[in-house]
Amino acid sequence: MNTLPISPSHIPAAERLLQEANCPLPACPQGLVLEKEGEVVGVCLLGGTRVEMLAVASAWRRRGYGSFLLRRALHALGAFAGKEVTAALPADEAGRALLAKFGFVPRGAEMLRPVRRQLTALELGHRLLASHLRPGGFAVDATAGRGRDTLFLSRLVGETGRVLAMDIQPDAVRDTRALLERHGIRWAEVHTADHARLAEFAPPASADAVVFNFGWLPGGDHALFTTPATSIPALEAGLEILRPGGILLASIYHGGANGTAERDVLAPWLAGLDEQKYTVVRCDFANRGGKDPLVFLVHRC
Ligand SMILES: C[S@@+](CC[C@H](N)C(=O)[O-])C[C@H]1O[C@@H](n2cnc3c(N)ncnc32)[C@H](O)[C@@H]1O
Repeated sequence: MNTLPISPSHIPAAERLLQEANCPLPACPQGLVLEKEGEVVGVCLLGGTRVEMLAVASAWRRRGYGSFLLRRALHALGAFAGKEVTAALPADEAGRALLAKFGFVPRGAEMLRPVRRQLTALELGHRLLASHLRPGGFAVDATAGRGRDTLFLSRLVGETGRVLAMDIQPDAVRDTRALLERHGIRWAEVHTADHARLAEFAPPASADAVVFNFGWLPGGDHALFTTPATSIPALEAGLEILRPGGILLASIYHGGANGTAERDVLAPWLAGLDEQKYTVVRCDFANRGGKDPLVFLVHRC
């Protein structure tokens, strides 16, 4: 089973399918066909960000092919990447139920799939940081990557504050510096360094916040990722430079084999911190099937 963009060779089969549904095929149809063993068994017409029509051959209905095709069409329209998508009101109850299954609701004479933004680990971390950091503060980004966290921290502490960022990959440091420059931020310094050496860059008990976003560089080489061999010394160094009252945030991406191995070492290590010195809060996304990062918040007493 496969979906393909509608091409001229699909026209006769698509026309037959749409005839079954009493729908004419437009002159230049845009959309997808669903092929099974070389035969076109479904068609989904698209226009802009709208699902115009979806038809599955009567012999193949009630087997999940409509869902499969609609899911692919929604992907193609960017619906799963946050785009609002509409659909023509289907003629029958089955069509309306299919759209409802994918989150469409009636709006006037059409159906609308409103964008529901889920809280991500990144956003959760940023909210925690925003509620803690003040202008003039000192924040550390121990995994600069493409610089999103460094930029966020820099904005929170403002030009009277200080941000220290580091990454082991020169690419990441270059991108982070470029991002900061584009945003006119001069109060953040970015170093090419192993974060296990964090304590060489900041005095003990000085930072208001230290951020670790473990894993690999977004869009980078997946063979280069954080490992417990350096992550544990780096966390130790992060706690050393954290001032009393300060917070350390550690997001652990545990999807692939590397991430899972890292989680299995870091999570118990963090959970084992002395409760007389630290409060450790573990946030997991309990209803999302375990694929989201684990976020640890460590507060130094
Ligand atoms: C998930 S990314 C960070 C994402 C980043 N915060 C952002 O906003 O784009 C993890 C980063 O950790 C870096 N890294 C891996 N091992 C490191 C180490 N030992 N010291 C410093 N950085 C390291 C990787 O190069 C990668 O850029």
